[in-house]
Amino acid sequence: MNHLKTLLPILVLGAFVVMCHDAAAASAKITVHADQPGLAVPTTLHGLFFEDINYGADGGLYAELVQNRSFEDREPLYAWQEAAPGEAQGRLTVESESPLNTNNLHFLRLEVVRPGEGGYGAVNAGFDGIVLRAGDDYLFSVYARRRAGDSVALRVVLEDDRGRVLASTNFTGLGPDWKKFEANLASSASVTNARLVVLATQTGVVDVDMVSLFPKKTFRGRRNGLRADLAQALADLKPGFFRFPGGCIVEGLDFANMYRWKDTIGDVAERKQNWNVWQNSRSPEYNQTYGLGFFEYFQFCEDIGAEPVPVINCGMCCQARKGPPVPLDQIGPYVQDALDLVEFANGPTNSVWGARRAALGHPAPFNLKFLAVGNEQWQQVYFDRYDVFYRALKAKYPELNIISSSGPFPSDSLWRFAWNKFRTGTPAEVVDEHYYVAPRWLFENVNRYDSYDRHGPKIFVGEFAAHDGGPRRNNLRAALAEAAYMTGLWKNADEVLMASYAPLFGKVGHDQWHPNLIWFDNSRVELTPSYFAQAQFAQNRPEVVLPVDIEAPNTPEHHAGMIGVGAWNTRVEYKDIRVTGPDRQVRYASDFSRGLDGWKTAGGDWTVVDGALRQNAIGENIRAVVGDPAWTNYTLTLKARKLGGSEGFLVLFQTPDIDHPVWWNLGGWKNTEHSLQGGGLVENQVRGSIETNRWYDIRIELQDGSVKAYLDGKLIHEADRKPVSTFYAAAGRDQRVGELVLQLVNPFAEAMSVTVNLAGAGHLSPTARIITLTNPDPDAENSLAQPGVVAPRQGVFNGIAPQFTCALEPYSLTTLRIPQN
Ligand code: AHR
Repeated sequence: MNHLKTLLPILVLGAFVVMCHDAAAASAKITVHADQPGLAVPTTLHGLFFEDINYGADGGLYAELVQNRSFEDREPLYAWQEAAPGEAQGRLTVESESPLNTNNLHFLRLEVVRPGEGGYGAVNAGFDGIVLRAGDDYLFSVYARRRAGDSVALRVVLEDDRGRVLASTNFTGLGPDWKKFEANLASSASVTNARLVVLATQTGVVDVDMVSLFPKKTFRGRRNGLRADLAQALADLKPGFFRFPGGCIVEGLDFANMYRWKDTIGDVAERKQNWNVWQNSRSPEYNQTYGLGFFEYFQFCEDIGAEPVPVINCGMCCQARKGPPVPLDQIGPYVQDALDLVEFANGPTNSVWGARRAALGHPAPFNLKFLAVGNEQWQQVYFDRYDVFYRALKAKYPELNIISSSGPFPSDSLWRFAWNKFRTGTPAEVVDEHYYVAPRWLFENVNRYDSYDRHGPKIFVGEFAAHDGGPRRNNLRAALAEAAYMTGLWKNADEVLMASYAPLFGKVGHDQWHPNLIWFDNSRVELTPSYFAQAQFAQNRPEVVLPVDIEAPNTPEHHAGMIGVGAWNTRVEYKDIRVTGPDRQVRYASDFSRGLDGWKTAGGDWTVVDGALRQNAIGENIRAVVGDPAWTNYTLTLKARKLGGSEGFLVLFQTPDIDHPVWWNLGGWKNTEHSLQGGGLVENQVRGSIETNRWYDIRIELQDGSVKAYLDGKLIHEADRKPVSTFYAAAGRDQRVGELVLQLVNPFAEAMSVTVNLAGAGHLSPTARIITLTNPDPDAENSLAQPGVVAPRQGVFNGIAPQFTCALEPYSLTTLRIPQN
């Protein structure tokens, strides 16, 4: 059964009938030029980006249930504990003499002094408990050996957290050399908190390594396979491509931490484990077993019909983490890795790497067409290396499409540097652009690709997501901004080749990043509103997009908002805060003699000291706001002083509410850069820092869409905010089934009456299929406990005609599929 579908509270087709009416408060009109040929839509337009972040691989998509199975974690006994039931006594140590192989250097030694009745050994609770389902089979395997002269047997038990045995097996025949033992364990009960216990049952010494437990029911039943429900959630999106393995993880922090694909293939016991660059204080033992490696990746792509889009390390560590590049005269092995990867994917079985692929069970080529050189790299240091890779790859594989990075932001100086390269002769078939931005940015930039040069490289939006406000929630508001933006991707289907939301997975309680497309724990899956928006576009991707004329009003006061101040790990104070209108009329002048003077705060420790508003706590994302959300066209002036901490000032303007700050960040990034951030603003970081114990003069001038930000009288940032439409649409023709497809996005609070003119569409069925993603609350989110708060509703829409009107609910994405006959 398709597990995903059980999660969706979809109404039975036909039970939900949408009527045409025009009782809505706002209105829009679209004309779909259905008589025109339209633009061919690449089959790759909507796809997936996978990275092992937020426990996306081990503990996530990779179905292995044992954590630290090979004792190669930096804390070698991590996730293991002693199991000494009853009278049993012994010692657990991690040893390394005569290891399993040169990539797997450590193993667990069980030294049994007294076996008692049950034996002595070790217990592993997986990744926060092992999920077992009654009657399901689990494949246990282990490498083991005994000390010469000892006679020792192994007992393996699956038990729940109260010690109830759910399955067990015994192994005899251990010898002095490493030998693999396997058994099938059928669980007698369904539990989410099981443990795996490995016991030596006689006095003596036993070594064990690669202690592994897999459900038999992996995706497509593959050995060393993927967790079925998570993989199915990906397959259900009908992705046109699958980008892998990252992300920053490709780059790594240092040379040893770089992702090298050859470490990830072959017998899992021989894969060289690495630590995960996303390790942090909350997840200090986050590691990569590489169990989900490049062979499993290519196979999964084939299973779900997605083009593989691998990202290769280009001889550079993560620039965002200040990692070093490999000296240019030493990048040969990295270039060779890239060439060998293409051969591994596509080479004949008599080539070195084609033969490796065949030996792994896949003689047929994987038909690789794309390769990304580096992840999020920038500046000349990148292009020096990119050029070498490009030349070598194209010399051997002229048909390969090479993807170049353009840096981490959508239009900053790093992005301009890259595009200047492409305009002046640096070749690339595809350019990868990344943007994690406020919803507003997506609305303002829906037409981004209208003006891209059709003779230049194609676009891969390799990572994008709406980050709504400080808390960056996976809410409907973010999903609708992404949906609006995707109408722009459809419109530019001749330029945009691929797009993928990022990141893909987040394990609840183990995330380093949010929002993510899919949340999960060990047994449950939560599909986010963004997932459903992606699904609505990907599952309804037409063969051609049709030109659409849209007449809709812009949102009023799109550059309105309150003012405020804040801090990020810094103690600061602010005074003489004034807001003046264009007529020099004072709208606000701070007077802290009355205490906080009507300011609203979020986080921090705010007091008034000597007439200044002081923030004394060290913490992130601390804010205080005042004023009227309807304020437009004003100048904000204030004085600011840093008292201590690691960054500088946050000065808020055009802020609709305290949870959606728009700010000038002075001394951000550990006091190295300034940038405008939030709202629809494009981040453009410039070098700069803030000194302690010095008063600065700050002025921000807002006039219509223009923003000018001055520090001590010097203009540092200038930006233009574009108007935001109240309504977005795209249309296409699904020729396989003879249907017109309409995507209609009403992202705001008012219902919308849309008049649709299907110019030249020919004969239309009066009845269409309708899918609606909506909720009255734009902050609505799903959760593991309540996965259906925001979920698509399906129904029928009566009243299709060459011109018809339909009412769109507030905060909604609507897909109409209209049969043409
Ligand atoms: O998706 C999370 C991270 O964002 C990726 O690793 C990186 O490419 C980007 O900075």
